[in-house]
Amino acid sequence: MRLGCIIIFDEIRRTQRMVARYVGATARLTFDDIIGKSAAFRRSIAMAQAAARSDASILLLGESGTGKDILAQAIHNASSRRDNPYVAINCGAIPKELVASELFGYAEGAFTGAKRGGSAGKFEMADGGTIFLDEIGEMPLDLQVHLLRVLENRTITRVGGAEAIPINVRVIAATNADLKEAVDTGLFRSDLYYRLNVISLNLPPLRERIGDIPMLIRHFYSQYFDGQIVIPEDYEEILCRYSWPGNIRELRNIIERTVSLSPDKRLRVDYLPPDLVKTKKPVHKAPASETSPGQKSITTVRDAEKEALIASIISNQGNITKAAKDLGIARVTVYRKLKAYGIDPEDLK
Ligand SMILES: Nc1ncnc2c1ncn2[C@@H]1O[C@H](COP(=O)(O)OP(=O)(O)OP(=O)(O)O)[C@@H](O)[C@H]1O
Ligand SMILES: [Mg+2]
Repeated sequence: MRLGCIIIFDEIRRTQRMVARYVGATARLTFDDIIGKSAAFRRSIAMAQAAARSDASILLLGESGTGKDILAQAIHNASSRRDNPYVAINCGAIPKELVASELFGYAEGAFTGAKRGGSAGKFEMADGGTIFLDEIGEMPLDLQVHLLRVLENRTITRVGGAEAIPINVRVIAATNADLKEAVDTGLFRSDLYYRLNVISLNLPPLRERIGDIPMLIRHFYSQYFDGQIVIPEDYEEILCRYSWPGNIRELRNIIERTVSLSPDKRLRVDYLPPDLVKTKKPVHKAPASETSPGQKSITTVRDAEKEALIASIISNQGNITKAAKDLGIARVTVYRKLKAYGIDPEDLK
């Protein structure tokens, strides 16, 4: 009887996974789709590639349009979970009172009109795979407690239900808000923040990676135009001078606009929005690499050290002795640094 139940339960899970795939719970993009060579950007990407090999929670930080969505998909597709569901949910787009049942599902009779047998939430749908919690800063405080419990206990309880259902899900969260400030003002729980922040990846705004603009223009132009790719110098220069508040999404839209307005689909300054042409920002055509070593801020050095530490521990499957050897530092130093950064190596296995 018990074995029968397990088989049925397995069958239900398999069906849920299939359903998840058909309702758009798929990640199409991979690291090959991510364009950019500036140093700060490449550091985040290298870190993401290392992090993909672990099961640790990841927090993606960056302004709107900097590529958090695409990166979450790439991480999933580079992880051992790639054949299982990828479920994305935008915490800011669902009415607050529905977030709990969307994420955790509900039990039969949980509320008037609840489906017979209840309903699975996104966490159950993502079982075996990855859940992408976009706009995590918008998550109501009471649900933050719930989410923290899920991350710690690896079980969920449906709304109105009593049973703890085991789940195996990797969490990737993203925000374009300043979460640290939200913690300071009491809008975001610090315990959840530290739990999610084990691996945090910063996606720099496009204005800080001007050197990547020419290759991004080429990349998007080739998506809208089949002929020979020619990028006029004045066109490129204007785009390199602009400040891109909407980041890469805005750049993609501008190229699409130019191509669709241009009768022969050639890129021409005439088809750029007048406001964009007018911008008179000094041109720094130098690659948006980094500041010189002497100018590096302490934060950058600390970030780079933390990233190297995490990447090495992940690539050594949590083995501190091997990580220390790779980094050329003593084991005790690794432990001391882990403590200083508040990292639990167990989270990186
Ligand atoms: N490095 C990149 N290379 C190629 N395309 C990119 C890159 N970064 C972003 N894009 C493209 O730019 C668009 C916006 O990216 P994405 O949706 O990932 O941004 P986001 O950070 O999630 O923004 P938001 O905060 O508004 O949700 C997408 O079409 C994405 O494919
Ligand atoms: Mg997004």
